[in-house]
Amino acid sequence: METNKSLINHYKKIRHFTEELCEPLKIEDYAVQAGLEVSPPKWHLAHTTWFFETLVLKPYVENYQVFHPDYDYLLNSYYEKLGTFLRRDLRGILSRPEIHEIYEYRNYLDQHMIELMETLDLHKDNEQCKKIFSLIELGLNHEQQHHEGLLADIKYNFWMNPLRPAYKRMEKPADFKRTSYSSSSPAWLEFSGGLVQIGQDGTGFSFDNETPQHKIWLEDYSLCTRPVTNGEFLQFMADGGYRKSEFWLSDGWKVIQQEEWEAPLYWEKIDGKWSVFTLSGMKEIEEDAPICHVSYYEAAAYANWAGKRLPTEGEWENAVINSEIDIKGNFIESGLYHPSPSIVMNNGLAQMYGDVWEWTASSYTPYPRSKPLPDIAGEYNHKFMCNQVVLRGGSCTTPISHIRPTYRNYFHPDKRKQFSGFRLAEDID
Ligand SMILES: [Fe+2]
Repeated sequence: METNKSLINHYKKIRHFTEELCEPLKIEDYAVQAGLEVSPPKWHLAHTTWFFETLVLKPYVENYQVFHPDYDYLLNSYYEKLGTFLRRDLRGILSRPEIHEIYEYRNYLDQHMIELMETLDLHKDNEQCKKIFSLIELGLNHEQQHHEGLLADIKYNFWMNPLRPAYKRMEKPADFKRTSYSSSSPAWLEFSGGLVQIGQDGTGFSFDNETPQHKIWLEDYSLCTRPVTNGEFLQFMADGGYRKSEFWLSDGWKVIQQEEWEAPLYWEKIDGKWSVFTLSGMKEIEEDAPICHVSYYEAAAYANWAGKRLPTEGEWENAVINSEIDIKGNFIESGLYHPSPSIVMNNGLAQMYGDVWEWTASSYTPYPRSKPLPDIAGEYNHKFMCNQVVLRGGSCTTPISHIRPTYRNYFHPDKRKQFSGFRLAEDID
């Protein structure tokens, strides 16, 4: 049972971590928006604050005075019920408010949030308190999503800068030991199909897109014990993978023609050799590390080339539950912010969590009997359930406390700014 003190500590930790992630930035970095789908770091800092103000303080604290009357317009991301808002592609015009004003906003909000949390009656059957607690949990999980978004956007901004600056020079910590195994010999693990349960059972926090728990039918299948590696993806490229239409979905083929893709995002050929841009700057490609920053289209093309397929989200979830995989791995806490080579796990499956989000073959649609949250929070997930694909498992920029076996991330199939990779699956005859 959460106590007021533990809730406040949890709140402070997550809020502080957002600011910690911004510490390596220079003042000029805060306002940059190098692409239409990137938000400037200062917007992330302010928007996560606005989220608490709008969902918790304004409706539930009597006589709460908003910090600034115009922030609703500047910082609303996509909540139509709240009225009009600044277009996403214009967030880079926000030279004002200045960054110190945004930090003042964060402090103002935190003070009011802490006052509220001190008085919350968490142990009694008080509907109002329960509602506020759920919204605070949602706000904290939302802020953790922005931890990941911040790093992805900073990476893109720095990549677009011809100087290719490093965000922070990260080295593998001494205790971060991994025994890599050859990229040429992936192992496979078989799973029995049948009627299985997926989805969150209602205990503990989850987003509304993970519920309710329900039954699905799976045929027998096997799953590769680790994600596809850079070395393997290089073989696909060397075999003309980006130039042979037979491997590609029609939409994917169109995208790679239009965008002239010939490699994953952040790859660059230097002196005839592929290198990769990381948050530590340009690095040599590590052949045993998972492929990262690929779109669903590239994942699907690779799977076709390899004569395999991507797993469905049900197969992915059933595998982690069946194999009782612990949630550990290369998450944001490792401070690497880059995927690392796989390790051989005792139970066979490696890197189901952390390193790279794994594209699945599943469209992002509501689960049977799924219901959006009430009020404004109802716009959080369900309205995006069209034309997007589910990814599972978290990445090297996901906070470890944020991920669950049932967690459903989702992107459009052409997106590759996030730390996305994939693993292969196969039918068993
Ligand atoms: Fe957000």
